[in-house]
Amino acid sequence: MASRVLALQSQGISMIPSREECLRVLKEHHVWDNIIEHCKRVTRNALFIGNKFIENGHPVDLKLLEAAALLHDICKKDEIEIIRKLNLDGPQIIEKIRSIGHGYLGESKMKELGYDELADLVKKHTMQYLLEEPELKRSRDETLILTYADSLDVEGKVNTIENAFKRYYKRYPHFNECLEQEEKEMYKVEKYVLEKAGIIFEDLLKLNE
Ligand SMILES: [Fe+2]
Repeated sequence: MASRVLALQSQGISMIPSREECLRVLKEHHVWDNIIEHCKRVTRNALFIGNKFIENGHPVDLKLLEAAALLHDICKKDEIEIIRKLNLDGPQIIEKIRSIGHGYLGESKMKELGYDELADLVKKHTMQYLLEEPELKRSRDETLILTYADSLDVEGKVNTIENAFKRYYKRYPHFNECLEQEEKEMYKVEKYVLEKAGIIFEDLLKLNE
């Protein structure tokens, strides 16, 4: 499949994989089932918000958003396994995450598969990346929608940023300083996305029904 994609790209034809192709790629890469389920819920969240952007007069490439949302955590398992294997502690993880974070690994994977258009979104979707490039400098609305849609998925359903971070503070006590900054940035992303979509957070709770 990758060679067909590369052949199309050399002819200048853009290649954004369909939902079916994305799901096949996730399976081929042995992505854990719980991560695949998370990616499906994030895609549902992202498409809901993307459609609201459009209804509110702001263009969004839904095909690009759908594919990036489905594939955004394709390398999450690799990140977890590398950290485990290297037996890293808190500060070392923060340092290392800049090179082996799943956003960066995912960016390379997208390029390897010939999905160049998805690479930037996958790289930038992570909370860690919020500290490297704050929200408004991010290139596309699709990236911010994906970052927000991802952060909303807590324990299998749409939840508040506050609850998401409460969980992270408890689970990653070494990272509390970083998490505080990420939380602040995430609230800015939330404000930007909800305003542009013309919705309030409570509208997103309908997705849990
Ligand atoms: Fe995710």
